[in-house]
Order: sequence, then C-alpha cells, then structure tokens
Amino acid sequence: MEYLTLTRRNSQFQRKVSIRIGERANYVNSPHVIAMVGLPARGKTYISKKLSRYLNWIGINTKVFNLGEYRRHATTAYKSHEFFRQDNKEAMAIRTQCAIDALHDVCLWLECGGEVAVFDATNSTSDRRRMIYEMVVKKMGFKLFFVESVCDDPQIIEQNIMEVKVSSPDYKNMNMEMALNDFLLRIEHYKEKYQPLDETQEAGLSFMKIYNTGEKVVVHKHEGHIQSRIVYYLMNIHITPRTIYLTRHGESEQNLEGRIGGDSDLSYRGKLYGAALSQYIQQQDIPGLRVWTSWLKRTIQTVAAIQAPQERWKALNEIDAGICEEMTYEEIAEKYPEDFAARDQSKFTYRYPRGESYEDLVARLEPVIMELERQGNVLVVSHQAVLRCLLAYFLDKSADELPYLHVPLHTIIKLTPVAYGCKVEHVKLPIDAVDTHRPKPKIPGTLDEKFKRSSSSDIMKENLKNSS
Ligand code: SIN
Repeated sequence: MEYLTLTRRNSQFQRKVSIRIGERANYVNSPHVIAMVGLPARGKTYISKKLSRYLNWIGINTKVFNLGEYRRHATTAYKSHEFFRQDNKEAMAIRTQCAIDALHDVCLWLECGGEVAVFDATNSTSDRRRMIYEMVVKKMGFKLFFVESVCDDPQIIEQNIMEVKVSSPDYKNMNMEMALNDFLLRIEHYKEKYQPLDETQEAGLSFMKIYNTGEKVVVHKHEGHIQSRIVYYLMNIHITPRTIYLTRHGESEQNLEGRIGGDSDLSYRGKLYGAALSQYIQQQDIPGLRVWTSWLKRTIQTVAAIQAPQERWKALNEIDAGICEEMTYEEIAEKYPEDFAARDQSKFTYRYPRGESYEDLVARLEPVIMELERQGNVLVVSHQAVLRCLLAYFLDKSADELPYLHVPLHTIIKLTPVAYGCKVEHVKLPIDAVDTHRPKPKIPGTLDEKFKRSSSSDIMKENLKNSS
C-alpha cells in the first residue's frame, strides 16, 4: 500500500503525518473537523477515540488530534494545576500556540487526503470556537461540527479521573490522591471561563450536546450525511460496564471437508462444543445475557442448550462466497485461479463473483454494531469472516489486518471495555476442531499443504474415528 509522509517544519516540534492513499471508498465529499467541547474529565477523549474507531471501520479515514499531547510536547513544565490558572499568562500563551499548531496539523492532514479529523480539546470558550471556525471553515472551506460533553454527575467525573487522568504523564511524580486533587482544581480553573455551546449565542455553528453520557442529546443545525452518522452513533453508545462474548459455531460437517459457506449441520465435535459452551455460559452466570446467532443451522444448533433469550440475525450470516460457495480452497484455486490469486492480493476489497467482499460485510454489519453498542451482555455466535469484522471494530484493526484476524473454532473471545479500548481474552474450550485459518500466502494464489485434498480427507477419517 502507498503512504504519503509529510513533515511540518514551522512548528515547535516536527511531526510526521502518514497518509494512506486511495485505499477505501470515499464517503465524505468535504473534509470534516469534529471539535470536542467540554470541561476536563467529561469523556471527550473517550468519545474522540471511539468515534474515530467507528468511522475508520466504516471506511472513513479519521484521525484524532489531542491537544494535551501537543501541550506535553511543547513544555514539560507541568508541575500542578497552577499551569491552568486563567491569570497564568505565560502558560496561556503556550496553550494558545499549541492549539494553533494542532489546528494547522489538522488542516494539513485533511488537505492531504484525511477525511475526518477529531480535535480533542476542551474548546471551552466561544473565543476558542470562533478561532477554530475562522481557520477550518472560513480559511480552509472544511466542514465543522462541535460535539460537547456535559456532565454534572460527580461520580462519573471522579471515575473518569481515576481511570484515565491520574495515570497521565502529567502525574507521573504524584500519588493517586494528590493527582486527583490537582485534577479537580484544574477543572475549577476551566470552570471560571467555561461557556457551554448555546443555540442562541452561537446560532451559526453546527453542534451536538451529550448530557450525562447520553441521558439527553441536543442537536443543532447538523449538516449532511457524515454529521448525521456521527449523531446517530453517539446517540447509541453507553458506558455501563458489560462484556461481549464472540464465538464461531461449533465445527460443522463442511468444516471437516474444508468447504466454505453452505448451511451444514454440526459435526460430532461441533455438538460437543455446543454443550461445552452452554455449560461455560451457565457457570459465568451473566446478568441479562442475550444470545444472537445467524440464520444458519450451525450457529442455531450451537446455542440450542443455552438458557437465555435468543435472537436470529440474517446480518450475522457468513460472507456470501457467490460462485465459490461450498467449494474447498483447492477447488477454487483449480477452477478460478485468477479469482483465487486476486483475493490474496486484496482480500478486504475482493468480492466473490455473485457474492460479497469483506468491505460489503462491514456495511452489512453496521446495524449489528449499532445494536451491540446499545446492549448490555451479549453472546454473538456467528462465522469466521463476520467475527473478523466485528473484532476489527472492537480492537481498532485496519482493513489490511481485518481479513486475517485469527478467529479459531471452539474458542470464546471475551471483550470487556476498559478506559479507551477493550480487554480481549481468548477462552479455548477443550474440544478439538479443524483449523480453517488461511494466512496470507507469500505468493498470491498458492495453497498451504493443510488445504490440499489428501490432508482434508485425513481430517475426515480422524473425525469419523472420534465419533464412532
Ligand atoms: C491539556 O493541555 O491537557 C488540554 C488543553 C485543553 O484542551 O484545554
């Protein structure tokens, strides 16, 4: 893949910006700046990172520019909250210059092919927002959308400080209690000048305000497709702790034959996995668990014994392999060698003739992600390609990595949201299964030994021996 690297020289520090060129479909006509607004510890960085992860996943090239990082690059002088006092002129000059530098980088990145830049900063005064508007809209002609996080729940604020602020580089020489107190005083300095977005005072701006992590949302003059998608996404996310369990169906009859797609029953070992999965889920005693499967027999059979409300999603069906459905890789390589090699060259965008690509699959799965965001504990039982797409969303993996993510059979992948990301644990249940993972070959179109006919019939014999 081609990358363009730019270095900006006229700032206090040099930054290299790497841009992927023309890799994915372009969903936005004009570049966008999403500028966060809000007092410290209101979840702005959480929203910025999560939004960026979502937009990248749906194919919109997005990058976060965090003002705190610019400030830490510009000065290591942070000793205490005094730095943020409104009457600290020296510090204020540094802070303003950092904001200008960050905005220059935002504009440079968008000019060079970026689609959405998220400016993660407090932007807590109307003067600062005017400056952003002048630069982004008036000078550059980009679109600008403000997202304000308003939170007056002291518990949420303290939790945010304890989870992410006390471990910030600003506090590397302070104990937790001192850091907490210092941060609370920092917030007080911001409060002196804080001007929340207001639809009468700043009537010309496009913005949304999110109150207490989604209790209420106000949207003002949002424009166009990208802003609508952002509003819809941010209306659906929540921060209540929960766990998402992902697993493939148990091994199927067609897995044993090395055939892709189809709608076959579980193998003997696949049925054993279904029973073991049900036992595992029962032992975990997960409050309010919901179970989602595809419409295909192998996922429905896998969850047959699980005592929890179940839903079937057609969107969770395996990638449609079109003319290659129910063929082995070896048969595809023999019958359609050009297609087989083309897929190895660009697996994310390659579309099976009369079938789907991974890129299509991501679009099909967007409603699933949106609903997963709204839910509590969920067990999703689906298929290799589908789970790769879901995992890529949760783990922020690129389009290049996505089609090669490892999602073995008979393994539960536990995802638990932590701070700005997800903790991932693999729980392998002790029932053997075939390995269906085909890594990217060094030479496109070539096949590993394990996918050749002789090897798959060995697996069959092995399984028949186990089931008798
Ligand atoms: C910071 O310097 O840590 C944040 C600056 C800001 O966004 O106000």
